[in-house]
Formats: sequence, C-alpha cells, structure tokens
Amino acid sequence: MITFDKPLVINLKNYYEISGDNSTKIVEDAKKASVLNQTDIIIAPPPSSILALSKIKIPIISQHVDDVPVGATTGFIVPEIVKSYGALGSIINHSEHKIEHVQIKNLVKRLRDLEMVSIVCAADLDEVDAVSRFSPDFLAIEPPELIGKGVAVSKANPSIIKDSVRVAKRNSSAVRVLCGAGIVDKHDVEKALELGAEGILIASGIVKSSSWYNKILELSSVLK
Ligand code: G3P
Repeated sequence: MITFDKPLVINLKNYYEISGDNSTKIVEDAKKASVLNQTDIIIAPPPSSILALSKIKIPIISQHVDDVPVGATTGFIVPEIVKSYGALGSIINHSEHKIEHVQIKNLVKRLRDLEMVSIVCAADLDEVDAVSRFSPDFLAIEPPELIGKGVAVSKANPSIIKDSVRVAKRNSSAVRVLCGAGIVDKHDVEKALELGAEGILIASGIVKSSSWYNKILELSSVLK
C-alpha cells in the first residue's frame, strides 16, 4: 500500500469553483507544486471525477465511502469501485457527511484489506478517542465550528491538536493526526506541526484562494 509523509490533503468538496474542467486545473496545479516541493499532496474530488483526475498521476482519494456491498446497490460510493477508478483511499466520517461509528470501524478494515488509505475525521476529543481505536491510517481533527471560517484550529484551539495526538496515539501508536479546519496560510501549518500534527486537511483556504498554485506551493513548502 502507498504511504504518505506529512501529506497536504485537499478536499475539493462540491465547491462551484472546482466544477467542470476547473477540477483538472486545480489538480494539475497541485501536481506541479508537489513535484517542485517534493511533498505528498492528496486530492479528494467529487466522486464523479475520480476516474478522470486519477489519470493526472497525483494521489486521489474519495471524499466518502459507504459500508455497502459491491453489486446491486444504487447511489452509494463503494470502496472496491472507487479503487477501480484510481482512488488510493478515502476520507471517512467528515463532519459534513457523518456516519455511525460501527460503519467507520467496518470501513477502516475494508479499506485496509483493499490496501487503501483511511483518513477518519473526528469533531472533538471524545470522537478522537472513539474512532482512533479503529486504527485508521490518519485521523483528522476538525472542530465543525471552525470549518470554512478562515480561523485555523491551530490558532483558535491549539490544545485540541495536542490532546488529539496524545489520545489517538494512546489508542493506536501507528495513527497519524491531520489538522483540519480553517487553515489559510503556512503559519497555520507550521503551528499545527509544532503541536504534533503530521499533515493537513484543507478545503476553502485553497479552493477559494486567488491563485491555487501559489497557495498550494506556500502550504506544501512547510510540509517538506
Ligand atoms: O475536509 C477539510 C475541510 O472540512 C476543512 O475546511 O474550508 O476550513 O479548510 P476548511
């Protein structure tokens, strides 16, 4: 299975800015920055674009997967199928698409069996404690109230990053914590790393920036 070192994970969500051919443009910008900085950049696009974007040869993951079987299931995102389209893993339990903890446990195992990377999101310390017991590859701490607000969690609530690292590693020594919510500049990334995070999960700070390439280059330069 592919491994990532201090990844910059860019969640494109369903922002209009990345609709149509714009999704290709932001992924190509990310690939250029990844090559220049020699850093791991992972893109989580809308599921319908995974197959096309995976041709650009930059790690692509799904924004969500469903704990349903391959076969006669309609309207779900099935791990085995997105893998066949080129996805190397998936975000699970994002605060904008939460699922039951038993489903998280099943999906982390299913992705591991498929040699796919799991990034499980947690909204608070209690959820960090619960979901880190499933030993995902990454755990992203993302206080929902800070998402999309442009005030980094590393500034607004630094202790939650330190505490998340402590609690997560107590439950699963191999799990790595990503810092999400409100990241907008390289100082936010530096602070998150100082607090023990081993990567970043970001959306609006990049998607809504005036230059995707320059912003991705700025943020990934700190993750070398
Ligand atoms: O998945 C990452 C996302 O929820 C963080 O949002 O816009 O605060 O970077 P944003």
